[in-house]
Amino acid sequence: MDTNTTKPAAPTRLIQLPLLAREAGVASVWVKAECDRPLGNFKSLGGTAAALKALARAGSEASRTTLICASDGNHGLAVAAAATAAGAHARIFLPAGATPVRVARIAAQGAQVETVHGTYDDAVTEAAAAAARGEGILVSDTSDDPDDRGVRDVMRGYAQLAREVLQQTQGHALPTHVFAQAGVGGLAAALAEGLMAHLRDPARLVVVEPERAACVAAGLRVGHPVTVTGDLETCAEMLSCGTASAAALDILLRFGASSVAVDEAALLSAPATLANCGGPPTTPSGAAGVAGLLHVAHRDALRAAHRLGSDSSVLLVVSEGA
Ligand SMILES: Cc1ncc(COP(=O)(O)O)c(C=O)c1O
Repeated sequence: MDTNTTKPAAPTRLIQLPLLAREAGVASVWVKAECDRPLGNFKSLGGTAAALKALARAGSEASRTTLICASDGNHGLAVAAAATAAGAHARIFLPAGATPVRVARIAAQGAQVETVHGTYDDAVTEAAAAAARGEGILVSDTSDDPDDRGVRDVMRGYAQLAREVLQQTQGHALPTHVFAQAGVGGLAAALAEGLMAHLRDPARLVVVEPERAACVAAGLRVGHPVTVTGDLETCAEMLSCGTASAAALDILLRFGASSVAVDEAALLSAPATLANCGGPPTTPSGAAGVAGLLHVAHRDALRAAHRLGSDSSVLLVVSEGA
Protein backbone atom coordinates (compact mmCIF):
# COMPACT_ATOMS: atom_id res chain seq x y z
CA MET A 1 0.00 0.00 0.00
CA ASP A 2 1.27 3.48 -0.88
CA THR A 3 1.47 5.09 2.52
CA ASN A 4 2.00 8.58 1.08
CA THR A 5 -1.61 8.77 0.00
CA THR A 6 -3.32 6.80 2.76
CA LYS A 7 -1.46 7.54 6.02
CA PRO A 8 -3.08 10.12 8.33
CA ALA A 9 -1.64 13.36 7.03
CA ALA A 10 0.38 15.69 9.24
CA PRO A 11 -1.59 18.85 10.10
CA THR A 12 -1.50 21.47 7.37
CA ARG A 13 -0.23 24.94 8.24
CA LEU A 14 -2.51 27.55 9.79
CA ILE A 15 -1.05 30.91 8.79
CA GLN A 16 -1.93 34.41 10.02
CA LEU A 17 -2.03 37.03 7.25
CA PRO A 18 -1.97 40.55 8.75
CA LEU A 19 -1.76 42.20 5.30
CA LEU A 20 -4.96 40.46 4.19
CA ALA A 21 -6.62 41.41 7.48
CA ARG A 22 -5.71 45.04 6.83
CA GLU A 23 -7.05 44.81 3.25
CA ALA A 24 -10.33 43.38 4.60
CA GLY A 25 -10.56 45.82 7.53
CA VAL A 26 -10.74 43.05 10.13
CA ALA A 27 -8.62 42.22 13.18
CA SER A 28 -7.08 39.00 11.84
CA VAL A 29 -7.20 36.47 9.02
CA TRP A 30 -6.17 32.84 9.45
CA VAL A 31 -5.52 30.71 6.39
CA LYS A 32 -5.53 26.91 6.52
CA ALA A 33 -3.08 25.75 3.85
CA GLU A 34 -4.64 22.60 2.41
CA CYS A 35 -2.06 22.70 -0.39
CA ASP A 36 0.10 20.91 2.23
CA ARG A 37 -1.98 17.68 2.06
CA PRO A 38 -0.37 14.67 0.34
CA LEU A 39 -2.38 15.11 -2.90
CA GLY A 40 -2.20 18.89 -2.73
CA ASN A 41 -5.77 19.54 -1.61
CA PHE A 42 -8.24 18.83 1.21
CA LYS A 43 -10.29 16.35 -0.84
CA SER A 44 -7.81 13.61 0.03
CA LEU A 45 -9.16 13.72 3.60
CA GLY A 46 -12.64 12.71 2.45
CA GLY A 47 -12.23 10.76 -0.79
CA THR A 48 -9.41 8.61 0.56
CA ALA A 49 -11.21 7.81 3.81
CA ALA A 50 -14.52 7.01 2.09
CA ALA A 51 -12.81 4.89 -0.57
CA LEU A 52 -10.90 2.85 2.02
CA LYS A 53 -14.12 2.35 4.02
CA ALA A 54 -15.93 1.13 0.89
CA LEU A 55 -13.09 -1.31 0.19
CA ALA A 56 -13.13 -2.51 3.82
CA ARG A 57 -16.85 -3.24 3.43
CA ALA A 58 -16.05 -5.23 0.27
CA GLY A 59 -13.83 -7.47 2.44
CA SER A 60 -12.07 -10.26 0.52
CA GLU A 61 -13.52 -8.90 -2.76
CA ALA A 62 -11.61 -5.60 -2.36
CA SER A 63 -8.85 -6.33 -4.86
CA ARG A 64 -11.44 -7.25 -7.51
CA THR A 65 -13.50 -4.14 -6.75
CA THR A 66 -13.81 -1.06 -8.93
CA LEU A 67 -14.51 2.23 -7.17
CA ILE A 68 -16.58 4.66 -9.20
CA CYS A 69 -17.02 8.39 -8.76
CA ALA A 70 -17.71 11.64 -10.53
CA SER A 71 -15.33 14.52 -9.99
CA ASP A 72 -14.24 17.95 -11.15
CA GLY A 73 -10.73 16.65 -10.45
CA ASN A 74 -9.73 16.43 -6.81
CA HIS A 75 -12.26 13.94 -5.42
CA GLY A 76 -11.48 11.60 -8.32
CA LEU A 77 -7.77 11.94 -7.63
CA ALA A 78 -8.30 10.97 -3.98
CA VAL A 79 -10.49 7.97 -4.84
CA ALA A 80 -8.08 6.83 -7.57
CA ALA A 81 -5.08 7.10 -5.24
CA ALA A 82 -6.83 5.15 -2.49
CA ALA A 83 -7.96 2.42 -4.90
CA THR A 84 -4.46 2.03 -6.29
CA ALA A 85 -2.88 1.99 -2.83
CA ALA A 86 -5.30 -0.78 -1.79
CA GLY A 87 -4.75 -2.82 -4.97
CA ALA A 88 -8.25 -2.13 -6.29
CA HIS A 89 -9.45 -0.37 -9.45
CA ALA A 90 -10.97 3.07 -10.01
CA ARG A 91 -13.16 4.50 -12.76
CA ILE A 92 -13.50 8.29 -12.59
CA PHE A 93 -16.17 10.24 -14.52
CA LEU A 94 -15.01 13.76 -15.40
CA PRO A 95 -16.87 16.53 -17.22
CA ALA A 96 -15.52 17.33 -20.69
CA GLY A 97 -14.19 20.66 -19.37
CA ALA A 98 -11.73 19.01 -16.96
CA THR A 99 -8.25 20.33 -17.73
CA PRO A 100 -5.69 17.94 -19.25
CA VAL A 101 -3.43 18.35 -16.21
CA ARG A 102 -6.16 17.17 -13.84
CA VAL A 103 -7.10 14.28 -16.16
CA ALA A 104 -3.45 13.23 -16.41
CA ARG A 105 -2.97 13.25 -12.62
CA ILE A 106 -5.92 10.88 -12.19
CA ALA A 107 -4.82 8.63 -15.05
CA ALA A 108 -1.31 8.53 -13.54
CA GLN A 109 -2.85 6.87 -10.45
CA GLY A 110 -3.84 3.98 -12.73
CA ALA A 111 -7.52 4.95 -12.88
CA GLN A 112 -9.74 4.59 -15.91
CA VAL A 113 -10.94 8.07 -16.86
CA GLU A 114 -14.39 8.48 -18.46
CA THR A 115 -15.06 11.83 -20.12
CA VAL A 116 -18.68 12.89 -19.91
CA HIS A 117 -19.95 15.37 -22.48
CA GLY A 118 -21.68 17.73 -20.12
CA THR A 119 -21.25 19.33 -16.72
CA TYR A 120 -20.07 17.96 -13.40
CA ASP A 121 -23.72 17.20 -12.62
CA ASP A 122 -23.94 15.05 -15.78
CA ALA A 123 -20.82 13.20 -14.62
CA VAL A 124 -22.51 12.60 -11.23
CA THR A 125 -25.53 11.09 -13.03
CA GLU A 126 -23.38 8.85 -15.23
CA ALA A 127 -21.24 7.61 -12.36
CA ALA A 128 -24.35 6.73 -10.34
CA ALA A 129 -25.83 4.94 -13.35
CA ALA A 130 -22.66 2.85 -13.82
CA ALA A 131 -22.73 1.85 -10.15
CA ALA A 132 -26.45 1.03 -10.38
CA ARG A 133 -25.63 -1.30 -13.30
CA GLY A 134 -23.31 -3.18 -10.93
CA GLU A 135 -20.09 -1.99 -12.56
CA GLY A 136 -18.52 -0.96 -9.25
CA ILE A 137 -19.01 0.72 -5.89
CA LEU A 138 -19.95 4.41 -5.90
CA VAL A 139 -17.82 6.68 -3.69
CA SER A 140 -19.61 9.97 -4.20
CA ASP A 141 -19.09 13.33 -2.51
CA THR A 142 -22.67 14.36 -3.30
CA SER A 143 -26.14 12.88 -3.30
CA ASP A 144 -29.79 13.93 -3.29
CA ASP A 145 -30.21 11.60 -0.28
CA PRO A 146 -29.38 13.54 2.92
CA ASP A 147 -28.53 10.26 4.69
CA ASP A 148 -26.23 8.85 1.99
CA ARG A 149 -23.64 6.80 3.90
CA GLY A 150 -20.77 7.36 1.45
CA VAL A 151 -21.29 11.12 1.29
CA ARG A 152 -21.39 11.26 5.10
CA ASP A 153 -18.09 9.27 5.17
CA VAL A 154 -16.52 11.84 2.84
CA MET A 155 -17.61 14.75 5.06
CA ARG A 156 -16.45 12.91 8.19
CA GLY A 157 -13.04 12.78 6.54
CA TYR A 158 -13.05 16.57 5.99
CA ALA A 159 -13.78 17.01 9.72
CA GLN A 160 -10.05 16.46 10.32
CA LEU A 161 -9.48 19.97 8.99
CA ALA A 162 -11.75 21.49 11.66
CA ARG A 163 -10.09 19.41 14.41
CA GLU A 164 -6.68 20.69 13.35
CA VAL A 165 -7.91 24.31 13.40
CA LEU A 166 -9.15 23.87 16.97
CA GLN A 167 -5.79 22.45 18.05
CA GLN A 168 -3.78 25.06 16.19
CA THR A 169 -5.75 28.03 17.58
CA GLN A 170 -5.30 26.93 21.19
CA GLY A 171 -4.07 29.91 23.15
CA HIS A 172 -5.41 32.35 20.52
CA ALA A 173 -8.78 34.03 20.18
CA LEU A 174 -10.93 31.79 17.97
CA PRO A 175 -12.30 33.15 14.68
CA THR A 176 -15.66 34.91 14.51
CA HIS A 177 -16.25 34.10 10.82
CA VAL A 178 -15.46 31.30 8.40
CA PHE A 179 -15.60 32.05 4.67
CA ALA A 180 -15.71 28.63 2.98
CA GLN A 181 -15.81 28.07 -0.76
CA ALA A 182 -18.35 25.54 -2.02
CA GLY A 183 -18.85 23.22 -4.92
CA VAL A 184 -21.54 20.86 -3.62
CA GLY A 185 -21.10 22.19 -0.05
CA GLY A 186 -19.32 19.30 1.67
CA LEU A 187 -16.30 21.30 2.83
CA ALA A 188 -18.44 24.15 4.19
CA ALA A 189 -20.74 21.67 5.96
CA ALA A 190 -17.83 19.86 7.61
CA LEU A 191 -16.43 23.21 8.82
CA ALA A 192 -19.86 24.22 10.13
CA GLU A 193 -20.25 20.97 12.02
CA GLY A 194 -16.72 21.03 13.43
CA LEU A 195 -16.29 24.72 14.20
CA MET A 196 -19.57 26.60 14.71
CA ALA A 197 -19.88 25.70 18.39
CA HIS A 198 -16.39 27.08 18.99
CA LEU A 199 -16.49 30.35 17.02
CA ARG A 200 -16.73 33.65 18.87
CA ASP A 201 -19.78 35.86 18.49
CA PRO A 202 -21.34 36.44 15.95
CA ALA A 203 -20.19 32.95 14.84
CA ARG A 204 -20.90 33.18 11.10
CA LEU A 205 -20.18 30.69 8.34
CA VAL A 206 -20.37 32.28 4.91
CA VAL A 207 -20.45 29.97 1.88
CA VAL A 208 -18.57 31.44 -1.10
CA GLU A 209 -19.50 30.40 -4.64
CA PRO A 210 -18.93 31.58 -8.21
CA GLU A 211 -21.93 33.60 -9.47
CA ARG A 212 -22.18 31.09 -12.32
CA ALA A 213 -22.49 28.03 -10.06
CA ALA A 214 -24.18 29.24 -6.88
CA CYS A 215 -26.07 26.03 -6.16
CA VAL A 216 -25.56 26.03 -2.39
CA ALA A 217 -26.98 29.57 -2.14
CA ALA A 218 -29.98 28.44 -4.21
CA GLY A 219 -30.48 25.45 -1.92
CA LEU A 220 -30.14 27.57 1.23
CA ARG A 221 -32.86 29.91 -0.09
CA VAL A 222 -35.48 27.18 -0.61
CA GLY A 223 -34.35 24.66 2.03
CA HIS A 224 -33.48 21.76 -0.29
CA PRO A 225 -31.17 21.10 -3.27
CA VAL A 226 -32.20 22.73 -6.55
CA THR A 227 -30.35 22.68 -9.83
CA VAL A 228 -29.07 26.01 -11.12
CA THR A 229 -29.24 26.61 -14.86
CA GLY A 230 -26.40 27.52 -17.21
CA ASP A 231 -23.18 25.85 -18.29
CA LEU A 232 -21.57 26.36 -14.83
CA GLU A 233 -18.38 27.53 -16.54
CA THR A 234 -16.08 29.30 -14.09
CA CYS A 235 -12.35 29.83 -13.61
CA ALA A 236 -12.90 28.24 -10.18
CA GLU A 237 -13.23 24.87 -11.89
CA MET A 238 -13.48 22.85 -8.68
CA LEU A 239 -16.58 24.84 -7.67
CA SER A 240 -18.38 24.22 -10.97
CA CYS A 241 -21.37 22.33 -9.56
CA GLY A 242 -25.06 22.82 -10.36
CA THR A 243 -26.73 20.98 -7.46
CA ALA A 244 -25.77 21.05 -3.79
CA SER A 245 -25.31 17.87 -1.79
CA ALA A 246 -28.47 17.21 0.26
CA ALA A 247 -26.42 16.00 3.23
CA ALA A 248 -24.25 19.14 3.17
CA LEU A 249 -27.24 21.43 2.76
CA ASP A 250 -28.96 19.84 5.74
CA ILE A 251 -25.99 20.71 7.95
CA LEU A 252 -25.56 24.22 6.53
CA LEU A 253 -29.26 24.97 7.09
CA ARG A 254 -29.03 23.65 10.65
CA PHE A 255 -26.13 26.01 11.42
CA GLY A 256 -27.74 29.04 9.75
CA ALA A 257 -25.01 29.44 7.11
CA SER A 258 -25.24 32.47 4.83
CA SER A 259 -23.76 32.83 1.36
CA VAL A 260 -22.07 35.18 -1.04
CA ALA A 261 -21.56 34.84 -4.80
CA VAL A 262 -18.48 36.31 -6.46
CA ASP A 263 -17.83 37.21 -10.09
CA GLU A 264 -15.15 35.81 -12.36
CA ALA A 265 -12.89 38.87 -12.09
CA ALA A 266 -12.80 38.55 -8.30
CA LEU A 267 -12.09 34.81 -8.50
CA LEU A 268 -9.34 35.31 -11.09
CA SER A 269 -7.52 37.94 -9.05
CA ALA A 270 -7.85 36.19 -5.68
CA PRO A 271 -4.73 33.94 -5.94
CA ALA A 272 -2.49 36.98 -6.64
CA THR A 273 -4.09 38.98 -3.82
CA LEU A 274 -3.46 36.07 -1.47
CA ALA A 275 0.16 35.68 -2.64
CA ASN A 276 0.81 39.43 -2.25
CA CYS A 277 -0.34 39.13 1.36
CA GLY A 278 2.07 36.24 2.01
CA GLY A 279 -0.35 33.36 1.41
CA PRO A 280 0.47 30.11 -0.40
CA PRO A 281 0.26 29.73 -4.20
CA THR A 282 -3.15 28.47 -5.26
CA THR A 283 -5.87 28.53 -7.92
CA PRO A 284 -9.12 30.55 -8.15
CA SER A 285 -10.91 27.57 -6.52
CA GLY A 286 -8.38 27.50 -3.70
CA ALA A 287 -8.55 31.27 -3.14
CA ALA A 288 -12.32 31.66 -3.54
CA GLY A 289 -12.67 32.29 0.21
CA VAL A 290 -10.38 35.30 -0.20
CA ALA A 291 -12.61 36.60 -3.02
CA GLY A 292 -15.69 36.10 -0.84
CA LEU A 293 -14.17 37.83 2.17
CA LEU A 294 -13.08 40.88 0.12
CA HIS A 295 -16.45 41.02 -1.68
CA VAL A 296 -18.16 41.39 1.70
CA ALA A 297 -15.43 43.46 3.33
CA HIS A 298 -15.50 46.20 0.66
CA ARG A 299 -19.31 46.74 0.81
CA ASP A 300 -20.81 48.42 3.85
CA ALA A 301 -24.23 46.80 3.46
CA LEU A 302 -22.70 43.32 3.21
CA ARG A 303 -20.35 44.00 6.16
CA ALA A 304 -23.40 44.84 8.22
CA ALA A 305 -25.43 41.88 6.91
CA HIS A 306 -22.66 39.41 7.78
CA ARG A 307 -21.72 41.31 10.97
CA LEU A 308 -18.13 41.70 9.79
CA GLY A 309 -16.30 44.42 11.72
CA SER A 310 -12.87 45.74 12.57
CA ASP A 311 -12.75 43.33 15.54
CA SER A 312 -13.63 40.23 13.45
CA SER A 313 -11.28 37.31 13.03
CA VAL A 314 -11.73 35.31 9.83
CA LEU A 315 -10.78 31.75 8.91
CA LEU A 316 -10.20 30.92 5.24
CA VAL A 317 -9.27 27.63 3.63
CA VAL A 318 -6.79 27.56 0.76
CA SER A 319 -8.29 24.34 -0.48
CA GLU A 320 -5.67 23.34 -3.08
CA GLY A 321 -2.19 24.14 -4.28
CA ALA A 322 -1.38 25.98 -7.51
C1 LIG B 1 -9.95 22.71 -4.36
C2 LIG B 1 -11.37 22.59 -3.98
N1 LIG B 1 -11.92 23.55 -3.22
C3 LIG B 1 -13.20 23.50 -2.84
C4 LIG B 1 -14.02 22.47 -3.26
C5 LIG B 1 -15.46 22.47 -2.83
O1 LIG B 1 -15.79 21.40 -2.01
P1 LIG B 1 -17.28 20.88 -1.91
O2 LIG B 1 -17.63 20.33 -3.26
O3 LIG B 1 -17.26 19.87 -0.85
O4 LIG B 1 -18.12 22.07 -1.61
C6 LIG B 1 -13.49 21.44 -4.05
C7 LIG B 1 -14.32 20.34 -4.51
O5 LIG B 1 -13.93 19.55 -5.34
C8 LIG B 1 -12.13 21.50 -4.42
O6 LIG B 1 -11.56 20.54 -5.16
